[in-house]
Amino acid sequence: MQRVFDGARFGQPCYAFEEVTSTMDVAHELAQQGAPEGTCVWAARQRQGRGRLGRTWESPEGGAYFSLILRPARAPQEIPQLSLVAGLSAAEAIREVTGLSPSIRWPNDLLLEERKVAGILIEAKDGAAVLGVGINVAAHPDALPDTATSLAACGAACDPYDLAARLCRRLEGWYDHWGAHGFAPIREALRPWVSHFGEVVRVTLGTDQEVEGQALDVDEAGRLLLRLESGAIRPCEVGEVRFLR
Ligand code: BTN
Repeated sequence: MQRVFDGARFGQPCYAFEEVTSTMDVAHELAQQGAPEGTCVWAARQRQGRGRLGRTWESPEGGAYFSLILRPARAPQEIPQLSLVAGLSAAEAIREVTGLSPSIRWPNDLLLEERKVAGILIEAKDGAAVLGVGINVAAHPDALPDTATSLAACGAACDPYDLAARLCRRLEGWYDHWGAHGFAPIREALRPWVSHFGEVVRVTLGTDQEVEGQALDVDEAGRLLLRLESGAIRPCEVGEVRFLR
């Protein structure tokens, strides 16, 4: 089945499925076959939706689950910044459609009422970056992990496809801006959405290593800056933030 997001460069073409293992898998296949930038793979359900750090992404009916094929003109080491570019676009789209203002938890989570409502996944392979977006739209909290919520549970039901289309439009703008000017303008736009600046957090790094400190900002490369107890500033490139409250 093929549906088209109205007017958007991102989301065209859009291949929509009732069920797939993961939209990431289908998008990688299409990317390898030379699909153009902006190609979207949408699924109503995923059997093996995945998140960062090898996690499962529960994908019950009624959510927005899609992957976009991107071919960024930025250096490979800048590709992780896409997570924040997409997070910013997703936060704006959610506010535009529902009136709710999610907060961004570096580097890839959107939170409402301190629970995760959306996540972003970037997988780069052979010159293409596949951007995966999962938004819990209609799900009852019982169908989601304890730490998650949905837009409906927060009082704002909406059409997942319309939400995805708005997100694609927002993303086009920020992505082009990022392509032309780098991360600096994204960083400025992002700050008001990040709830944990100033807070003491624990960051689990890629390995089993953990660091604690006050989250200060993201730097010009998109790294989270932590002030450690010693006073030293530690930039974190990857990791997962937990609040210590
Ligand atoms: C995370 O929070 O760790 C990222 C979650 C990303 C989930 C989306 S749903 C669409 C796409 N397909 C997947 O299997 N994962 C991403």
